[in-house]
Amino acid sequence: MLVLGVNFGFHDPSAALVADGRLLALAEQERFSRRKRAPLEMPLDAVTACLETAGVRPADVDAVAWGWDVDRFDPPLPPAPHLDPANALPAGFDAAPPVTPVAHHVAHAASAFWASGFPSAAVLIADGQGEREATSLGVADESGVKLLATYPVNASLGHFYRGAAQYAGLERGASRGEGKLMGLAAYGRPVDPMPLLTGDGQLALDPRVRVPHTADTRSEMRDALRRWWTAHTFPYVSGNTAEQMAYVNFAASAQAALETALVNLAAQARQLTGQRRLVIAGGVAQNCSANAAIVEAGHFDEYYVLPVPHDAGVSYGAALAVAHAEALRTGAPFRPQRLDHAYWGPDVRPEQVAAALHGSGLRAERLPEEELLGRVAAALAEGRIVGWYSGRAEIGPRALGARSLLADPRRRETVLRLNTLKGREVWRPLAPSVLAERFDEYFEAGLASPFMNVRAMTRPAVRSRIAAVVHVDGSARPQAVNRTDSPRYWSLISAFERLTGVPVVLNTSFNLAGEPIVNTPAEAVRTFLAGQLDLLVLQDRLVTRPEPADPGPAG
Ligand SMILES: [Fe+2]
Repeated sequence: MLVLGVNFGFHDPSAALVADGRLLALAEQERFSRRKRAPLEMPLDAVTACLETAGVRPADVDAVAWGWDVDRFDPPLPPAPHLDPANALPAGFDAAPPVTPVAHHVAHAASAFWASGFPSAAVLIADGQGEREATSLGVADESGVKLLATYPVNASLGHFYRGAAQYAGLERGASRGEGKLMGLAAYGRPVDPMPLLTGDGQLALDPRVRVPHTADTRSEMRDALRRWWTAHTFPYVSGNTAEQMAYVNFAASAQAALETALVNLAAQARQLTGQRRLVIAGGVAQNCSANAAIVEAGHFDEYYVLPVPHDAGVSYGAALAVAHAEALRTGAPFRPQRLDHAYWGPDVRPEQVAAALHGSGLRAERLPEEELLGRVAAALAEGRIVGWYSGRAEIGPRALGARSLLADPRRRETVLRLNTLKGREVWRPLAPSVLAERFDEYFEAGLASPFMNVRAMTRPAVRSRIAAVVHVDGSARPQAVNRTDSPRYWSLISAFERLTGVPVVLNTSFNLAGEPIVNTPAEAVRTFLAGQLDLLVLQDRLVTRPEPADPGPAG
């Protein structure tokens, strides 16, 4: 049974194709429309890309699932074109099966559980909000997902944390601030009070912050919290963007409050379910420090955080939920796979590579693989920045060695150059990719994630060796690169290790300031030129600028 899952209506529109429970392809609309998180867009290009990648036609699709059940909103949402399933599918779906709504947190939970490969697990979902809940605890097994406890939107951890990022002046235009707040937190100490009450089965804002439940609880919360923070936390003023370092203790305090709440929720999930494995999803699960705190608290024996915990993942989760329900009803096969890697996006198209290079004035060499990897590794070791466009794209917000900018992790000056290039604050950290078999030598972590979604501490003995990828507190957000799952990227890092003795490269997403990760080879070439990158790998081609022309003899 072939199910197309979609997410639309709010942000992170996406599409996923699932055959008998197995993920075939997942694509995010922002990569096509080139608007970060593509608010209110329909996933038309994402659907088309999934069909092309999987080689199926609209007529092959048996069911369509949507990662929202908008009828559950309370108060109800007024009808709008961006909430109308009739607008959600591209041409060719004229006789499409009806769109089946799946409650938002059920979709998050389904994605987290079936991607984990666990036979059963407790589930923790935390995001801005679903239809009428912002945090859910539940259990999942072969009979499906059951949510056992939920907490309301006016105690949303996602809204709380985003409100804090806004308070600290870190959200600018379309650029969200949560990731920056987490980065800033490492510079500070959690000394400010936070109006978040958790523990003993409770999750609520301090009664003095009182937030009414309305059609726009998020804005109500942001305003109420701003008033409270202004009265109780340094620097007693919201969002002076010229003084972001004044907010380090505020950031550390918000981060600590979030972590305490999530650890308490994990403890409660253990008590409620008796399970010994935990899966985590929802937008809050992008917070790699909080994920580490949950793992380190040790309420469970095993953990899984999928590479698309944010709303782009509910297309996949909704498809799984519908496929599973159909399998229970009809006996159809349902064989989901564990997601051990993130390369489920669109593939490289050779004709696009050729077209992108044609007339670009760039030099492109097709080299034997070993020679290409050796040349790239040598360039990295010489301090060059490499655009790396290879294989199927990653799903989720992190570049994981398919659409990445790579650099030498030993050179601290690279951080300044890359952050400037990408329009990022100079104090923000950059992440390492490390050979999985060498992970423990460099990092200490409760979970060695292949998805850069669990913070680790760098071992003191190696910190100065990889200075460009260690944050101010000694932490890092490493990607454990496994030979089986990422053979080409693994080989490149190995080549770098042979030259330098360091089995680590610096890896950040392949995009410039304010842009989504590059999607097509043409965008990779444009970014290469605009960003003054030193070298570009487009699948099997090594792309360089032509040597400056020989000026010839003077006179
Ligand atoms: Fe969500």
